[in-house]
Amino acid sequence: MPTTLITGGTVVSSTGRGPADVLIDGETIVAVLTPGSTLLGHDLAASVDSVIDATGKYVIPGGIDAHTHMQLPFGGTSASDTFETGTRAAAWGGTTTIVDFAVQRQGERVEDGLAAWHALAAGECAVDYGFHQIIGGVDEHSLAALPTLIDEGITSFKMFMAYPGVFYADDAQILKAMQVSADTGLLTMMHAENGPVIDVLAEQLVKAGNTDPFFHGKARVWQAEEEATHRAIMLSNITGAPLYVVHVSAKQAVEQLAWARDKGQNVFGETCPQYLYLSLEEHLGAKSEEWGSFEGAKYVCSTPLRSRAEGHQDHMWQALRTNDLQMVSTDHCPFCMKDQKELGRGDFRAIPNGIGSVEHRLDLMYQGVVTGEITLERWVELTSTTPARMFGMYGKKGVIAPGADADVVIYDPNGHTSIGYEKTHHMNMDHSAWEGFEIDGHVDTVLSRGKVIVDDGAYLGRKGDGRFVKRGLSQYLI
Ligand code: URP
Ligand code: ZN
Ligand code: ZN
Repeated sequence: MPTTLITGGTVVSSTGRGPADVLIDGETIVAVLTPGSTLLGHDLAASVDSVIDATGKYVIPGGIDAHTHMQLPFGGTSASDTFETGTRAAAWGGTTTIVDFAVQRQGERVEDGLAAWHALAAGECAVDYGFHQIIGGVDEHSLAALPTLIDEGITSFKMFMAYPGVFYADDAQILKAMQVSADTGLLTMMHAENGPVIDVLAEQLVKAGNTDPFFHGKARVWQAEEEATHRAIMLSNITGAPLYVVHVSAKQAVEQLAWARDKGQNVFGETCPQYLYLSLEEHLGAKSEEWGSFEGAKYVCSTPLRSRAEGHQDHMWQALRTNDLQMVSTDHCPFCMKDQKELGRGDFRAIPNGIGSVEHRLDLMYQGVVTGEITLERWVELTSTTPARMFGMYGKKGVIAPGADADVVIYDPNGHTSIGYEKTHHMNMDHSAWEGFEIDGHVDTVLSRGKVIVDDGAYLGRKGDGRFVKRGLSQYLI
């Protein structure tokens, strides 16, 4: 097996940082050493097959994006990144593992939905990948199938309190699925928005002629997120199910999570870069020469972007510092403007929901280090170590330590990343929500299980490099 030594860098973990050399044998980290260590008196660097000089740079565990939707069918179209294009973009941005959502629809067997997702991803991925299971139809068959997922390495499933008629589950269905979650240790993931209420508000807005993307945000009021989050927490309290609330954007929803956590409940939450940086006023309400007031369609996602005047973004950063929120995922769900977002011209309800960010999460969160919102260690914890622990991969993923997969990113704090207005990204999208963002840092080199897949502006990986990760039960529960 080829051996590699990463020398001269500062290894950063969730608990500290320090100068260290990282020795890799094949796919695995075998030692983290004092700089300049020798091997039986020989210079270690002279004894390995390749040496990577990380002087002046951070050496961090590869990013784990635990919320992506490659090829998700949504609103009469499908998310525009395939597993091939989406995982390649992830690699460019220093993400070496994604956890995508396999889909089971109402009336469909869970096994069939999962098999379809395996078929989409197998042999296509540039980086390692796992699956959560969406349960879009909670019934006796899907409930019976849930425990069988554990042997498949799928230890979390998502339900929706939103999207009536599509993926929606009512309280009785959620309660039953949470009972299975409590019995088995499967982690319940929840899209917590009151869908029926939102649908009425949206219909009333459209009837009154308010059809622009901006009104997507107006219909999806924060009260609907707070209420659903509280309800999910109480259902988890009744059943004892561990609960992970996805894409949290309202400060009031965070307050609900904090309240439950303070009582000792196994309740967790993630937010996404869009809820830290983008806003209802500036982005959903955006206008451009090309798209007019339909420009905001680029930023239509659910939960929606929130008002900056109401302070949601500042509250998300605070919650990341205080651990009221534990992780940052992207909810990568890309749609092009042309032929996809455009479906909702004249009625915002028909705009496919989602923003693409899988390439930019590490950089965007590093910018939070630069601006003093989070520490360097918290950056690693939010983007790699906690996702690994939350979703049963820790030890192999999320850490630079002997025995771990050699998923390593060499990050240059003195580098710079411009997310251009011209198409500079690698996601399969005709725009990016992050156009114009300037990052004071740069992903220089990315190793996936010991193989250099990105280096110095070149992509060196191949589709099929990425393997399916069979995950264990959550390692984060209290
Ligand atoms: O807007 C979003 N989030 N689209 C993807 C589906 C979901 O609810 O996560
Ligand atoms: Zn969702
Ligand atoms: Zn999602």
